[in-house]
Amino acid sequence: MQVTTDFLIIGSGIAGLSYALKVADHGTVSLVTKRDIDISATQLAQGGIATVFSAVDSFSSHAEDTMVAGVQLSNPDIVDLVVETGPEAINDLINWGVQFSRKRDDEYDLTREGGHSHRRILHAKDATGREIERALVEAALKHPNITLYQYHIAVDLITENKISQNKIDPNHCLGAYVLNIKNKQVMTFGAKFTVLATGGAGKVYLFTCNPDIATGDGVAIGWRAGADVANMEFMQFHPTTLYHPHAKSFLISEAVRGEGGILRREDGHPFMADYHKLKDLAPRDIVARAIDNEMKKTGSDSVFLDITHKGADFIKEHFPMIYTTCLGFGIDMTKEPIPVVPATHYLCGGLCADENGETNIHNLFAIGEVACTGLHGANRLASNSLLEGIVFAKKAADISLTRLGEQNSRNISVPPWDCGNATDSDEEVIVSHNWDEIRRSMWNYVGIVRSDKRLQRAMNRILMIQKEIDQYYWDFLLTSDLIELRNITTVARLIVQSALSRHESRGLHYTIDYPELDDENFHHDTIIPGADPEKNTE
Ligand code: SIN
Repeated sequence: MQVTTDFLIIGSGIAGLSYALKVADHGTVSLVTKRDIDISATQLAQGGIATVFSAVDSFSSHAEDTMVAGVQLSNPDIVDLVVETGPEAINDLINWGVQFSRKRDDEYDLTREGGHSHRRILHAKDATGREIERALVEAALKHPNITLYQYHIAVDLITENKISQNKIDPNHCLGAYVLNIKNKQVMTFGAKFTVLATGGAGKVYLFTCNPDIATGDGVAIGWRAGADVANMEFMQFHPTTLYHPHAKSFLISEAVRGEGGILRREDGHPFMADYHKLKDLAPRDIVARAIDNEMKKTGSDSVFLDITHKGADFIKEHFPMIYTTCLGFGIDMTKEPIPVVPATHYLCGGLCADENGETNIHNLFAIGEVACTGLHGANRLASNSLLEGIVFAKKAADISLTRLGEQNSRNISVPPWDCGNATDSDEEVIVSHNWDEIRRSMWNYVGIVRSDKRLQRAMNRILMIQKEIDQYYWDFLLTSDLIELRNITTVARLIVQSALSRHESRGLHYTIDYPELDDENFHHDTIIPGADPEKNTE
């Protein structure tokens, strides 16, 4: 099946949906998403969205906090742009119907998280993402120009480079091949503008608080098509996810520490003062490393987050969702500390995107977690991710609309997918085995504390698996698991390759072989140029 559309958007979190709502009055929108429309990392976001909404706060303070958390690797121009566009972009959310928690009718309640010098986190109790996703989904479903393709997964991008003999603009995106997961047919989408808003890659690791869909698809397909990637070594581990045999890495929001929660060892010792002057509100990389160190030192399976001193009424009012979820696992956080461990949470690197969210491939945009815009540097400041998503959706939509007229004359006919002689796989076990091996290797060798030896060990395994996938990928009819395996393998390799090249410790990349910061040699992004699409090199 062939679809021609003005805007092809892959992903239905805050970035994809808000881009869709911005452009939908001006053309046809195809919104492709792997599961139900509301399954996204946005939907799971608890803490909130950082912005300067208070008279005692300032843009310069938010910018400074972002730079400090990013260990001075963030791009200051991009930081200023995001921070200063923040309030306006957030007003769009409010106009689309998002209801943030208020102190009074005329005042929003601003909470605090690690690394912020002011209360500047807008939130909807402790389920901010759910509220944002609800409002955006409702608005998108009502719009007559938005056609939704649920249970569809992107396979590869279509670039002029790949298909045309007569290349006028070889480095130009023309759409994507997309698998309908239910009927297993590959569809061809020809589009004037293609937007990757596929989110992150937490599933590349064994333990993550990301949703199952976070398999780095956008990074992998963008890179395969020739888009550059940057800073893949900076995978953020959220310090506090619930430790319980039946909880699937449920996040305990940083807002719990923002409102006074204290990290303790099993023996009750509040250890964060031993690591940083901001104690429990130190930047995330420092807190995650401290927890990792305490667990290794004491041999315990977790540490504990204690907010019992705030009293039951305060806890139930501020954290109703976390309270109920923990209680479901037999933990009453009003009476006892919560056992917590770090897990992967956010990929700070991704496809290089400019101040309009555009990649080095013309009319291919990367917005939200899939992108590396320069905002996060070596470590993302809490609650800056939803902000980045909404700001760059706006910037990308603005520039797309200014170019829409000139694109109308372009011929965007694209060839259908050719499945060659592929047959149904009779070896699903290889796919599940390789999935597991990648995720375990990444967890064990490319985690919070790294070394050259461990990274090399991971790389050897990844390259072996990649070779195996290359051997069978084109022989079998596509399935969602096979596409995702190919993607997590590519992303894992990009992470390890980047980590191996950074011979210093900065932010989220900590290695025992180079434990110091080395500004003289490494105060720069780690760029990996996109694969050569003509040679199909990976
Ligand atoms: C949290 O609530 O701790 C997550 C917020 C974020 O990652 O920005």
